[in-house]
Amino acid sequence: MSDRPNVLVTRPIMAMPLARLSKRCDVTVHENDFGIPSDELLKVVEGRDALITMLTEVVDAELLRASGPQLKIVANHAVGFDNVNLADCTAAGVMASNTPDVLTETTADTAFSLLMTAARRVGEGERFLRRREPWIWGPLMMLGQDVHHKTMGIVGFGRIGQAVARRAKGFGMTVIYADAILLPPEVEAETGARRVELDELLREADFISIHTNLTPETRHLFGAEQFRAMKPTAVLVNTSRGPVVDEAALADALAAGELFAAGLDVFEREPEVTDALLDLENVVVIPHLGSATVDTRDAMGHLAVENVFAAIDGERPPTLLNPEVLKG
Ligand code: DGY
Repeated sequence: MSDRPNVLVTRPIMAMPLARLSKRCDVTVHENDFGIPSDELLKVVEGRDALITMLTEVVDAELLRASGPQLKIVANHAVGFDNVNLADCTAAGVMASNTPDVLTETTADTAFSLLMTAARRVGEGERFLRRREPWIWGPLMMLGQDVHHKTMGIVGFGRIGQAVARRAKGFGMTVIYADAILLPPEVEAETGARRVELDELLREADFISIHTNLTPETRHLFGAEQFRAMKPTAVLVNTSRGPVVDEAALADALAAGELFAAGLDVFEREPEVTDALLDLENVVVIPHLGSATVDTRDAMGHLAVENVFAAIDGERPPTLLNPEVLKG
């Protein structure tokens, strides 16, 4: 039996970080692109010293028990960690980490591209041409909404929300944000953003980009009432977590013209997408590609590996989520 740490990676990750991990550890990569069914996951975690998990796996007491007392860390290969029960990790004496910062700008780019695509009807225009419809330039053809110099409302003003604000500033937009936390004046100055209550943001914003974590408080933060409060010309973008938006209510609101369009990277019952949304022209949908660039996935992989190395070396992982575990 090898005395090298034994690590499970639940989905293939980028080659460089994987090679780095394999130099020090015995690594098993689960190769199924559709992820590990939960009953199988409970079997394959047994005896591992570290797990590199994806946002598609639930990390809870059952999984930690199935792994065994030697497990040191669950390094989630994502900034979001709503799939990881931190209290269960701490109770089991297991460290948990995520991959913040390295994906901030890339995810903000995704949010902005969804915003532009939805506002300017890019997806609809593309589908139209691919259907080989007859057409000629016309002054009233497929009119969208201007983005520049409009009001951007950002819900959840953490790292990614602030990066979206910087992009909005470059487009000459007025930026308002809603967040439980009031940011220091220097952050407001850098981003040019002003804090408002969510009600005001819904009324005032021409574009709303969601960047909250998924918590019991933010589940269905956007539903029928919020859509009714928005401008009929407004565009909603979600690159955070699907359940923050009530998808059925969004489909109804879009069909009724309560808002102009939506751009979605994430879905309430991922990977399922509410059928009614797919039938609407004024929705842009992409399959959770927020951080999906070569450089960023490399960086996320390296950060997950660094967290694993720190844990097996008995050091504090750089992006530890449950520091209280160290006190135990
Ligand atoms: C995350 O990291 O949480 C994104 O949703 C996927 O990269």
